[in-house]
Amino acid sequence: MSLLNSEISVKGKKSIVIYFSRADENYAVGYVTKGNTEIIAEYIRDITGAELFRVDRDVPYSKSYKECCDEALIEKNNNERPKLAKMLDSIEDYEVIYIGYPIYWGTMPMPLFTQLESLNWDGKIVKFFSTHEGSGLGSSEEDIIRICKGATILPGIDIRGSMVSTSKEKIENWIK
Ligand SMILES: Cc1cc2nc3c(=O)[nH]c(=O)nc-3n(C[C@H](O)[C@H](O)[C@H](O)COP(=O)(O)O)c2cc1C
Repeated sequence: MSLLNSEISVKGKKSIVIYFSRADENYAVGYVTKGNTEIIAEYIRDITGAELFRVDRDVPYSKSYKECCDEALIEKNNNERPKLAKMLDSIEDYEVIYIGYPIYWGTMPMPLFTQLESLNWDGKIVKFFSTHEGSGLGSSEEDIIRICKGATILPGIDIRGSMVSTSKEKIENWIK
């Protein structure tokens, strides 16, 4: 992974967190009003002043965890690019782009592919993070390297969904 450059500082650079996260029924905790990835995105905003952009599927996944898993699996197997409720048109104004997502079937949710593939990554600095229940980053790192052509991609981090509330220090260290 020669693209993963850990020498660059993101301090003081204008930044945005582009993320996908789902509330509703979550893994092993029942119904939640805020997803794990969104909690981390908000930590990053609090620490860095980054803006937030949440990627939402035009037709949300089911509230039921199992039904959502089934829908996302079909979408992934068909390599779909689902329509979004709202697209971020450009990242021209930002130097640093944080990309955050839950691992869905081994990589990013397909709505995030829809968004990320539409942007021009030339000259951007990318930092990425996943939340998951065992898969770590899965194959998302390879997908990000492939999609974010022309960007400098810094090492990613993965956080267990069940550990997000105690992960602020880990996030702070990673941002530094
Ligand atoms: C559709 C779906 C697929 C998932 N696939 C995986 C997976 O392949 N590996 C894994 O470790 N966790 C998987 N999970 C668990 C989520 O990655 C984990 O609960 C995550 O923290 C959810 O983030 P969120 O609350 O921000 O949506 C999956 C969850 C869903 C809903």
